[in-house]
Amino acid sequence: MTLSYNYLLFCSLVLSVIISPCIAQTSFRPKALILPVTKDASTLQYLTQINQRTPLVPVKYTLDLGGQFLWVVCLEDYESSSFTSPPCHSAPCSLANAPFCWDCSDSQPRPGCNNNTCNLLPDNTINGISFNGPLSMDVASIQSTNGKNPGRVVSVPKLLFVCADRFHLTDLANGVRGMAGLGRNSISLPSLFSSAFSFPRKFAICLSSSTKANGAVFFGDGPYVMLPGVDVSTSLIHTPLILNPVSTATLLFRPRPSTDYFIGVKSVKINGHVVPLNTSLLSIDKNGVGGTKISTVHPYTVLESSIYEAFVKAFTKELANAPRVESVSPFGACFDSTRIGSTRVGPAVPQIDLVLQSSDVYWRIFGANSMVQVKSNVMCLGFVDGGVNPRTSIVIGGHQLEDNLLQFDLATSRLGFSSSLLFRRTTCSNFNFTSTA
Ligand SMILES: *[C@@H]1O[C@H](CO)[C@@H](O)[C@H](O)[C@H]1NC(C)=O
Ligand SMILES: *[C@@H]1O[C@H](CO)[C@@H](O)[C@H](O)[C@H]1NC(C)=O
Ligand SMILES: *[C@@H]1O[C@H](CO)[C@@H](O)[C@H](O)[C@H]1NC(C)=O
Repeated sequence: MTLSYNYLLFCSLVLSVIISPCIAQTSFRPKALILPVTKDASTLQYLTQINQRTPLVPVKYTLDLGGQFLWVVCLEDYESSSFTSPPCHSAPCSLANAPFCWDCSDSQPRPGCNNNTCNLLPDNTINGISFNGPLSMDVASIQSTNGKNPGRVVSVPKLLFVCADRFHLTDLANGVRGMAGLGRNSISLPSLFSSAFSFPRKFAICLSSSTKANGAVFFGDGPYVMLPGVDVSTSLIHTPLILNPVSTATLLFRPRPSTDYFIGVKSVKINGHVVPLNTSLLSIDKNGVGGTKISTVHPYTVLESSIYEAFVKAFTKELANAPRVESVSPFGACFDSTRIGSTRVGPAVPQIDLVLQSSDVYWRIFGANSMVQVKSNVMCLGFVDGGVNPRTSIVIGGHQLEDNLLQFDLATSRLGFSSSLLFRRTTCSNFNFTSTA
């Protein structure tokens, strides 16, 4: 204590002369942070864990790529001496763009129940139920990374989140206490971490296809190195991220753009042949309906009905050598897998291309990401029917994202994607999580 106090005193004395050595020696500034991501076998949700509160405890979350912010159950089991709720109209409330002030009617203040808080409307995006909870803050501790291994643990003294009640956890995986939103929002985790440590407003997800090995979320720029030494942040293909001007959240207090990440799919090809579809479904209309977004809360890509039908028809035609067999829910097109060969990038099936801003920019989906082995001898096309008039025509889901690196650049509003890392002889479960701190 005395030593560091003297050091600080020394620093403040010389501060006017030389600033940088004091800062360099008193604080470590990470270039990037890393969180492990697991896949829950029963719900197929992707989960992460953050150490929070005083004393620190690990808190589990369902990862929500397009989610607005972090929300967690506070109204019970929340023990922390560092919990606070910023008062309504304070700087954190305006950063959060919080729509209203709130008083808690209980007589006893506790985490999640205080007077004069500013409240937001979090979504449980798994069941589509929205609710109202106070903006709150508490300490969080997270591992930095040099891109190859986790390094020193750094702390965010006042990480913002929104408090929820226990029943908001309905349909989330066992043990989860909330959702971790990575969406386009000033208080989503990527925004908060980038501003806390002044690193680039970029983050990347790499989801593991295995329920037994960790994938990762990287906050900050690459390198992102997977064993055996493959920097997967290089050779990405880029496409603009599109802002949907109308919120896709369940409840809204005032008009807002969507926090979901949309991309401009212009057409879909199977084995190079364009699938005939109503292309007006692929653009976002003035009500925010239509278009293509990326989601980690949908286990499989969801297609609007007419797109789904045309897609299945075209795929089945191209996969002529494998007979169709009875469908296995939730899929609508299943095949005799004994008639399907295998390749380095999964089952040998027709390639699916999501064609983007021009015909030479496409997201190619290979067998490992298109097919799901549902039982021995049966493999299904891992896409599901989203019904008629869904809010979003194409929702690219988890199975199609696994073992692909996706980097989101919030400053330039651009997505970088790798296509299957299996081609590069690595996977998203190959990050070396041995700490070098
Ligand atoms: C909020 O303020 C009211 C009125 O002053 C008071 O009765 C109530 O106990 C307070 N609630 C909390 C949680 O502090
Ligand atoms: C194409 O989709 C748009 C938007 O849903 C719809 O208004 C239009 O009627 C559709 N066109 C055809 C030919 O089905
Ligand atoms: C993982 O990282 C640690 C620490 O740098 C290193 O000792 C170990 O050899 C690495 N593991 C592999 C498989 O390379």
